[in-house]
Amino acid sequence: MSRPAAKTEPRQDASFPARLNAAAAETERLLERLMSDALVDGEIARPARLMESMRYSSLGGGKRLRPFLTVETAALFGVPRERALMAGAAVECIHCYSLVHDDLPAMDNDDLRRGRPTAHKAFDEATAILAGDGLLTFAFDILGRPETHPDAAVRIALVTGLARSAGLGGMVGGQLLDLAAEGRFGRNEAPQGEQGVLTMQAMKTGALLHFSCMAGAILGGAQPDKRDAVSRYGKILGQAFQIADDLLDVEGDAATLGKAAGKDAAHGKATLVDLLGIPGAHARLSALVADAEAALAPFGADAATLTDAARFVAERRA
Ligand code: IPE
Ligand code: IPE
Ligand code: MG
Ligand code: MG
Ligand code: MG
Repeated sequence: MSRPAAKTEPRQDASFPARLNAAAAETERLLERLMSDALVDGEIARPARLMESMRYSSLGGGKRLRPFLTVETAALFGVPRERALMAGAAVECIHCYSLVHDDLPAMDNDDLRRGRPTAHKAFDEATAILAGDGLLTFAFDILGRPETHPDAAVRIALVTGLARSAGLGGMVGGQLLDLAAEGRFGRNEAPQGEQGVLTMQAMKTGALLHFSCMAGAILGGAQPDKRDAVSRYGKILGQAFQIADDLLDVEGDAATLGKAAGKDAAHGKATLVDLLGIPGAHARLSALVADAEAALAPFGADAATLTDAARFVAERRA
């Protein structure tokens, strides 16, 4: 399977959209292969309805930004692309599970996702919950495979990193705080002020985007200075991503977004758009793009695509 280590390609080799699309198509193909009917060692059966709902929730849509970030950070360290795609696919499984559960009636109660009915609408609530559970656990199955990295210590570092970014002290914790901001659990749990919102967002969205970048550095055995630079970049990108998502809720429409718009304020969601206003949120995004570029300075011209990625995250319309 292994090819010679992929060299970091100069920016002119492909435009940013072409690189994003290529990573998305490769991720799609890989997920398609991993989520086939074929059993793997240790499995007893793959129930058709669960397979169908997991495939529905993970194939055929989405920007695939997280796998793209893994592939592009991995390229900085000469990681074979197949390995980066495996780690990226694992992160995407976590992301897709988080969307299925985020959309449930007990959470954000949304009917539209990636331009299609949400999983609980296309199937039923119990199946959607199980599809999410299936995707969550499948992510760790993927990371545990030698195709992801031949060295078990590297695989353990990936598993630990993903678990911590996705769980209690990361995404799941952030989702709890997001719902708390709606006032569901009483005032004490709700995030307070700008710092509270920043922490909640760093957890619910930032942590997984940060790990998407760190996975490339972990796979590549990056030295501490380079690893720290990737980490700074990932945190900034995560912050920018959720501000853009919250702006799109105000400025976008369902036809373009493929999901409902205009719901956050009505639901009492805590956002920086609410705290800073629309112009203030745009100004914050511009500052974060500049910060992201500065964080990438140690990589020089090799980081051109990641700089473009920060701009894309800030300026995207969907
Ligand atoms: C949307 O994420 C949900 C958040 C984490 C805010 P994306 O905008 O990356 O969704 P897809 O994967 O492209 O559908
Ligand atoms: C979702 O945030 C974050 C996670 C799924 C972890 P949002 O609730 O803002 O995402 P959208 O707007 O529904 O995509
Ligand atoms: Mg939500
Ligand atoms: Mg939501
Ligand atoms: Mg949103």
